[in-house]
Amino acid sequence: MTDERRPATMLRAAAVSRSFAGVVALDEVTLELDRHEVVGLIGPNGAGKSTLVNVMTGFDRPTAGRVVLAGDDITRWPPHRRGRAGLARTFQHARSFAGLSVRENIEVSALGVGVTTAMARERADRLLDLLGLSSIEGVPASILPHGAERLLGVARALATEPHFVLMDEPAAGLNEAEVPAFAEVVRSVRDDHDAGVLLIDHNMALVMAVSDRVHVLDEGRTIAEGTPDEVRIDAAVGSAYFGRGAADAADE
Ligand SMILES: Nc1ncnc2c1ncn2[C@@H]1O[C@H](COP(=O)(O)OP(=O)(O)OP(=O)(O)O)[C@@H](O)[C@H]1O
Ligand SMILES: [Mg+2]
Repeated sequence: MTDERRPATMLRAAAVSRSFAGVVALDEVTLELDRHEVVGLIGPNGAGKSTLVNVMTGFDRPTAGRVVLAGDDITRWPPHRRGRAGLARTFQHARSFAGLSVRENIEVSALGVGVTTAMARERADRLLDLLGLSSIEGVPASILPHGAERLLGVARALATEPHFVLMDEPAAGLNEAEVPAFAEVVRSVRDDHDAGVLLIDHNMALVMAVSDRVHVLDEGRTIAEGTPDEVRIDAAVGSAYFGRGAADAADE
C-alpha cells in the first residue's frame, strides 16, 4: 500500500472556477464529499455538473480554486494518480473498451490498479452480480444497450475499490423498472463498500431517494444545498428547473 492509499475521509472542491473562452462553466463552487455519504449533484443542462466532476477527478484543471483530498492539494494531480489515491468516476458518454466483453472490461479496470489476475476475476464476479450484469458478461461492450453500458461504467469504477466514486448520469438509459435496483447499488457502495458517492442524474426521484445531501448548480453557481427535503422546497431550485412561478405553483 502506497502513501497515497491511506484512508481518505474527505474530498473537497474549494471555490473552484472554470471558464471556457469566456463561458463561465463554474463560478467559485465549493463541494465536500465525505466517505460515508451520497451527495446528489443536480442542475439544468449546462449547469456545470460534468465540468465539476472533470475538475475533481483530474480530467480538467480549474481556472481558480483547489481540489483537496484528505488535506492534500491534488489540483495538479493527473487522473491516474488520483485513481491510485482512491478516486474513481464514470463518464456521461461511453468509455468502455468496445472490443472487450463486459467481464473483461471490469477485469481490465481492476488490473489497472495493480491487483492480481485472480483478484481481478473475483472482483468481476462480485460486481457482475451487484450490477445485474452476470447474464451478459460475455457480450462485447460495443453492442450493449445504453442502460447496460452505464452500469458497466459503474462496475469499472468500483473495480478499483475507490474511496470516492463520482458518477455522471449512471442511470441514464435505465427504464423506470430498473431504477430501484440501481438505487440499491448506490446505497451499497456507501454502506458496504465504504465509499462516498457523488451522483449526477436528471432522474430527480432517484437522486432524492438515495442522497444524504443534495447540491444544486445553475449556470455554474451553487444555488442551493441541503437535505433532499430542504432542496425540494427551495424556491431558487424551482425557478432554475421550471422558470419563475414554479416554486409558487409547487406550493399550491
Ligand atoms: N470543453 C469545453 N469547451 C467549451 N465549453 C465547455 C466545455 N465543457 C463544458 N463547456 C461548457 O460549460 C458549461 C457547463 O457544461 P457541463 O457539461 O459541465 O454541464 P452539465 O451540467 O454537465 O450539463 P448536462 O446536464 O447537459 O450534462 C456549458 O455551457 C458547456 O457548453
Ligand atoms: Mg453533464
